[in-house]
Amino acid sequence: MIHTIVFKDDRLSLLDQRKLPLAEEYFECKTYKDVEFAIRDMVVRGAPAIGIAAGYGAYLAALEFVNSDDFDKEMEKALDILNKSRPTAVNLMWAVDKMKKLLEDNKDRSNEEKAKLIKKLAIDIEKLEEEMSLDMSKNGAELVKKGDTILTHCNTGSLATSGLGTALGVIKYAHEEGKDIKVYADETRPRLQGARLTAYELDKEKIPFKLISDSVAATLIRDGKIDFIVVGADRIAKNGDTANKIGTFMLSIVAKEYKVPFYIAAPSSTIDFDIETGKEIEIEERDESEVTEIEGVRIAPHGIQVYNPAFDVTPYQNITGIITEKKVYFQENGEFNLE
Ligand code: MRU
Repeated sequence: MIHTIVFKDDRLSLLDQRKLPLAEEYFECKTYKDVEFAIRDMVVRGAPAIGIAAGYGAYLAALEFVNSDDFDKEMEKALDILNKSRPTAVNLMWAVDKMKKLLEDNKDRSNEEKAKLIKKLAIDIEKLEEEMSLDMSKNGAELVKKGDTILTHCNTGSLATSGLGTALGVIKYAHEEGKDIKVYADETRPRLQGARLTAYELDKEKIPFKLISDSVAATLIRDGKIDFIVVGADRIAKNGDTANKIGTFMLSIVAKEYKVPFYIAAPSSTIDFDIETGKEIEIEERDESEVTEIEGVRIAPHGIQVYNPAFDVTPYQNITGIITEKKVYFQENGEFNLE
């Protein structure tokens, strides 16, 4: 399996996803600020993976401040900085909140003891994500029929998690079970997570697939070439509205129009029980160069205006089911009950 996040001997290395698939290089994080940079610049990306990285970032901060008289204050500052590295994927805030609660509950312990507890929690978060990933993949694979052709968007595999993946985990599990599946992978403009990362994973796993540009998906769906669509999530609201990579919403509309099952696969750490609907989800806007350039080569005229949201929100009405590690949630009386 691909190791996206490697934590060994108190050192954190992240497989540099900006360089894949052409180079497999690790980015060394020496401080929590390196982790903050790695999340913001998408060295590491994908909702569960950035939560895990933030957990280790907290531990690097604890090592940095272990001799400080202001340990708690320094940690609070560091956790806030990590928390703001990207705004949409709630797994990041989920991991940071766990760290904050741990410090709150252990106020009276020594700095060394707190650092040890933070390390343990960071490792536990990674393990938990790995377990959830496996259970979700199993649950999702049960929905896949022999010979299905599956469409997916963005990258949701081992590169985006600490295990098999979310949507791509479902695909890998179904393949492992011998379901004889075929996959279409959207290239996923503008960052090309599909072309660069999903294609890399599917190729390594020897799962039959074709890479398509995003605009091909509607034609394939209309022509009856897709049996099943599964994508990941960056944040799911209580009512099931789901923020995921830009382009997901459009895909869901076409799926609904042509009655193709459209599933979200995500661990419970991606469900934000503090928000009622997707309207409350902050959508990250990224640099215009992601649209005006490809691999550093300018493709659009200079001086133009660009709108570059990284995610969109798919309304729950367009979602057939939400696959988690616990079960597959279906709408009952037109509503999801995720609790
Ligand atoms: O901008 P990214 O690459 O971090 O976006 C990733 C996605 O949108 C994934 O679909 C989502 O995080 C689920 S990953 C298991």
